[in-house]
Amino acid sequence: MIIAPRIRGFICLTAHPQGCEQNIVNQINHVKSKGAINGPKRVLVIGSSTGFGLASRITAAFGSEASTVGVYFEKPPAPGKTASAGWYNTAAFEAKAQEAGLYAKSINGDAFSDDIKRQVIDLIKADLGQIDLVIYSLASPRRTHPKTGVVYNSVLKPIGQVFTNKTVDFHTGLVSDISIQPANEEEIENTVAVMGGEDWGFWIEDLKAAGVLAQGATTVAYSYIGPAITEAVYRNGTIGRAKDDLEATAFSITEKLKDLDGKAYVSVNKALVTQSSSAIPVIPLYISLLYKVMKDAGLHEGCIEQMQRLFQDRLFSGKEIATDEKGRIRVDDWEMREDVQAEVAKLWEESDTDTLPQTGDLAGYKKDFLNLFGFDVAGVDYDAETDEMVQIPGLS
Ligand code: NAD
Ligand code: NA
Repeated sequence: MIIAPRIRGFICLTAHPQGCEQNIVNQINHVKSKGAINGPKRVLVIGSSTGFGLASRITAAFGSEASTVGVYFEKPPAPGKTASAGWYNTAAFEAKAQEAGLYAKSINGDAFSDDIKRQVIDLIKADLGQIDLVIYSLASPRRTHPKTGVVYNSVLKPIGQVFTNKTVDFHTGLVSDISIQPANEEEIENTVAVMGGEDWGFWIEDLKAAGVLAQGATTVAYSYIGPAITEAVYRNGTIGRAKDDLEATAFSITEKLKDLDGKAYVSVNKALVTQSSSAIPVIPLYISLLYKVMKDAGLHEGCIEQMQRLFQDRLFSGKEIATDEKGRIRVDDWEMREDVQAEVAKLWEESDTDTLPQTGDLAGYKKDFLNLFGFDVAGVDYDAETDEMVQIPGLS
């Protein structure tokens, strides 16, 4: 079939297999261009099909020749209907990994469930024995609690007061004011239940109890802080409460891993266009301005540059891992530079529908959004017939 983007709000209903494959090839080439990383050899990535989790998996495999197990929730293709982008990403990644002689297998299903945890443990036991590094990179709007069956939905709202600020519809470039009503207690709790640390803790407990965590195992989850402009809706909002909980969970996991000499970290990453972040109000306008400033300063990074730097310069540099006063690894250091933030704050004041094409990198935002689904990728022939029925080589 000939595959074109079909966009509905924050998502694209179609994905392009060759475009997704080209994105994988580009990411692999970036990792290879940076040289070998002295990292772990057996890596589990939970949330491995898109965004930071995918970039982590590519970095582990092509930076350290790691065997990788991936867990994700993606839609397979059907005749005349494309798969989701993460499906094609994984198919391309696993094909390239196997070509390079690297073990790569995966499980498609609900990572919050006990059943998927069991399947992953069985796969590790059968094929790898143990795991040295667990990356936890889930982003989801809902979670079914595995012990109670209760379904929690997360919300993106401020806490305590109405939040009013600018936002952009990144499809049209229209800048407008939005007001978001504050969350109630139940919404805060629900968001923490979905995006907080409980499930990360469950994973590590189950992996440890099954004996599949190696001596000295490390686990890393991802967080975000961001600037004053987005604070009320992000870090001081419902999602921020969930991130507080996730960050606190790192300490309780480290406690549980003491006898293995293991350790849990949170890495604070840069704001980037992913399927998750494009749904958060105000963030797309901030990202458009941030992209402009960071590109002009030669500081821009995508998911793969971020994760390659996290592995090479932070986690596996051979030196002590540098952390902030709250024990967090910071690869948002360039985003948070004072000069960068001062410029973004100035552009924020100046931005409206008319000025945004100059003040911000809306074109870069849109391109990254399309790229998520394999569209607008250089070197891909979008007029060509393409086979939507691509399968994942190592899917159990
Ligand atoms: P993403 O949407 O690109 O990736 C989410 C991954 O989770 C996908 O692989 C998806 O298949 C998987 N997933 C979702 N629900 C699942 C389920 N129930 N079972 C199994 N797999 C499931 O998101 P992302 O932006 O890469 O976010 C990953 C982490 O990074 C999140 O914790 C996010 O808060 C954090 N982070 C994101 C940004 C950003 O700007 N995007 C910045 C800093 C930190
Ligand atoms: Na991810």
